[in-house]
Amino acid sequence: MVRKLMAILLLFTLTLAACGQIAQPTPQFDITLVAPEDVPTTTFTDPVLAQGEELYTLICAHCHGYEGEGQLESTIENTLALGMHTVPALNSSGHIWQHPDQLLIRVVQEGIQNPLDQFPMASFSPGLSEEEIRAILAYIKLWWTDEQRQHQAQLTENWARRLEQLGISESTPTSATPSAE
Ligand code: HEC
Repeated sequence: MVRKLMAILLLFTLTLAACGQIAQPTPQFDITLVAPEDVPTTTFTDPVLAQGEELYTLICAHCHGYEGEGQLESTIENTLALGMHTVPALNSSGHIWQHPDQLLIRVVQEGIQNPLDQFPMASFSPGLSEEEIRAILAYIKLWWTDEQRQHQAQLTENWARRLEQLGISESTPTSATPSAE
């Protein structure tokens, strides 16, 4: 009796094991995992640019593109078919360089909650400090032309001068908006 019971148990165990084997999913494609020590490190010797590159790649690139080229090409048609905005490019083909640092920092801190966007941009404050946002912007500026960088630096200076004229300190939260003449 005991022997019979053990035989049934063995059969049961074998069947389970076989089922387990059949249930194993067959890999559809090869995945190569990169060991942490083999992840490419930055080529920047400047610590600010290295930090900007790392943060941009981690936090911004999946929406704005790994080289600031904007929304992933293959998803654009779908977004437009829904009647929504695509994620803008941050490289020289976009218009980010037409805004001063003060406003760009504010955009990243506050985010843009626009119902027309398929991927509304979240607010990154207090997650990112102002110093970290400045590092990300320094990295983004590498994608612009010299003329765009010069123009944008001028806008940043104009903005700072206007704040000074109005007696508003730079560190005042971003609700400070210079008025038109
Ligand atoms: C979830 C997707 C998403 C992520 C992540 C994201 N953004 Fe955005 N971002 C957008 C969208 C969408 C807009 C356009 C919003 C609009 O104009 O309505 C935008 C706009 C901007 C703008 C304004 C650009 C211009 O020319 O007007 C800047 C600057 C910007 N993002 C920087 C960043 C930075 C820096 C990060 C990372 C810290 C980041 N974004 C992360 C989706 C994203």
